[in-house]
Amino acid sequence: MGYVPTFTYQAAVCHAPQFAPRSYRHFTVSPLTGAMGADVEGIDLSSASDAAIAELEQALTDHIALMIRGQENLTPPAQIAFARRLGHVGIWPYAKAMEGYPEITELIQEPGDKYAFGGTWHSDSCSFEHPPKYTMLHCVACPPVGGDTGFANQYLAWERLDPALKAELEHRRAIASGRLGYMTAASDAEVQSHTATPVSFRPEELLEVAHPVARTHPVTGRKALYVNSSYTLCLEGESQKQSLPLLRRLWEHAITPEFTCRLRWSRGALAIWDNRCCLHYAHSDYPGYRRHMRRIVVEGERPV
Ligand code: SIN
Repeated sequence: MGYVPTFTYQAAVCHAPQFAPRSYRHFTVSPLTGAMGADVEGIDLSSASDAAIAELEQALTDHIALMIRGQENLTPPAQIAFARRLGHVGIWPYAKAMEGYPEITELIQEPGDKYAFGGTWHSDSCSFEHPPKYTMLHCVACPPVGGDTGFANQYLAWERLDPALKAELEHRRAIASGRLGYMTAASDAEVQSHTATPVSFRPEELLEVAHPVARTHPVTGRKALYVNSSYTLCLEGESQKQSLPLLRRLWEHAITPEFTCRLRWSRGALAIWDNRCCLHYAHSDYPGYRRHMRRIVVEGERPV
């Protein structure tokens, strides 16, 4: 009896900066996996010099997601001030802002919550015309273990696609829709029954926009796959039904284990990532514990 092959091995991959991190004058960087991610120590974000911030942005470009330890004293105004040094700080419309700080969204999981907010693979707000380039979370509280944020390097995802498929997708666009978003519920009340994060669910804000299937990073010039199961509704010119077989293949490929890393939280740490070239995922594996993050997004360019 013949069998259909059910797996293929992943040929070795690496994201070069992980193996040759630059030496920085203002902090130390420890890469996490061969794909992406780094722990950063030795910088105080509330008093960093312009030169230190420029180095930090270089490290972010290289390693895609950074966990910056030791920011216990970063107040909400200081977090906003830090974010403004990286670009225009947007107001995120899908969650109620922190009292007195419209730029900050509080992501809160209470011990009894059913789902983690952001618990599907996505790139933030890609249904916006100008999705955020960076997202940062400052950890106010986290469980003793669990609650990691997972990431997947989408430069590698694009580069490792079958060449014929890449040629087919090179100039195509896909429709990103807030309708699918990671809050697919019908109302605030339904979302609120899943998470303590204070949501602000307004159907008129569920934008739809066509973005390239592979976008070019404005700084590195590299292409990154830019579709995900949380926002991508269909390929432009096709129905969702027609698009789904290929999209599902891309989504599965996008999160190949060799493309990923996980950032482990500690109280006071601040994580920041580049949404233009990675997906992320909030792990829901800490029932009975509280997790509290202060989130700010920095606006980006229209994807090309
Ligand atoms: C998010 O998707 O923005 C939240 C990620 C997390 O809480 O780990």
